[in-house]
Amino acid sequence: MLGSRALGAAGPRVFSGVQPTGHLTLGNYLGAMRRWVEVDQRRGDALFCVVDLHALTVEHDPGRVRRLTRQAATLLLAAGLEPERCTVFVQSHVDEHARLSYLMECTASDGEMRRMVQYKEKVAQRAARGESVRLSLLTYPALMAADILAYGTQEVPVGADQAQHVELTRDLAVRFNQRYGETFVVPRATHPKVAERVMDLQEPTSKMGKSGQERKTGVVYVLDEAEVVRKKVMRAVTDGGSDVAYEPEERPGVANLLNVLAACTEGDPRELAGAYGSYGSLKKDTADAVVEVLRPVRERHAALAADAGYVDSVLRDGAERARAMARPRVDAAYRAVGLLA
Ligand code: TYM
Repeated sequence: MLGSRALGAAGPRVFSGVQPTGHLTLGNYLGAMRRWVEVDQRRGDALFCVVDLHALTVEHDPGRVRRLTRQAATLLLAAGLEPERCTVFVQSHVDEHARLSYLMECTASDGEMRRMVQYKEKVAQRAARGESVRLSLLTYPALMAADILAYGTQEVPVGADQAQHVELTRDLAVRFNQRYGETFVVPRATHPKVAERVMDLQEPTSKMGKSGQERKTGVVYVLDEAEVVRKKVMRAVTDGGSDVAYEPEERPGVANLLNVLAACTEGDPRELAGAYGSYGSLKKDTADAVVEVLRPVRERHAALAADAGYVDSVLRDGAERARAMARPRVDAAYRAVGLLA
């Protein structure tokens, strides 16, 4: 039984999550998932979660959320997370997240939620289409803070786009502790050295994102076939000029390719720039590097997806373990605010 053995953790408590709002992308992989595997292999004390409650903050199709939740969990295992060493689970299987989220809403102010950049961006996009916004999109960072704080998390490995949410989580932890007594550990975000913000290959000034129903040509999905990956990278938008230089402000398209290549080959984007005489050869090597990085993940995903019983048992066991870890701290928070006996 997976649940019966001790995890033997040696490192800091680590928590991170991914939303099942679309197919996972190269950005998710390089910015987050790949580093989760490194934490796991260093015998960190880690929990990784498919945060399905967060997927309800935007319009969603129930069947699609269920399918994507399962696919994301399977991909985490395919990427190399080992359930013998870390805890892999689905957020909605553990009630403590929603329970603590309410206390976080009672700790946060309306103004600080409205200042979140992602909220402002999403509201603007929807307003332009004449659509309304779910209240949960505004309160989302309270749920994210609950995800992190329920586990006494010390480190949160995320891409750059989540830095502001983790910063808010820190503020909420400090405020709660000051008001009600020491209850939460104050966590910190960690980001990868390169590729902390992988950009869309067609629009290199926007983040490569998974949201939306349609598959985009500027987005490489982790499960794209090798030929599809090659085509997308070869058609990436580059910038004026023809020599290869690493200038993220002036030449975001080329800088993005150099970042991706560096992340895939453990190189340095500035040094790599000096090694290329043309955009064509840079694109070709980047395409090859991405294909090689994703190949084993795609292959293991195919094998795991065929073994539904195994994935189910990992998630059941993960939820059980997560619940046991979160419950005492969430109970303590309820007691601290004057609830529970
Ligand atoms: P999400 O689902 O958008 O992304 C999951 C992780 O992937 C990173 N990421 C990227 N990194 C580099 N370049 C990109 N283009 C890129 N796109 C995504 C994200 O930074 C993230 O680390 N709010 C979170 C999910 C969440 C969470 C949490 C994370 C909920 N609760 C608690 C950490 C801890 C989100 O929407 O991630």
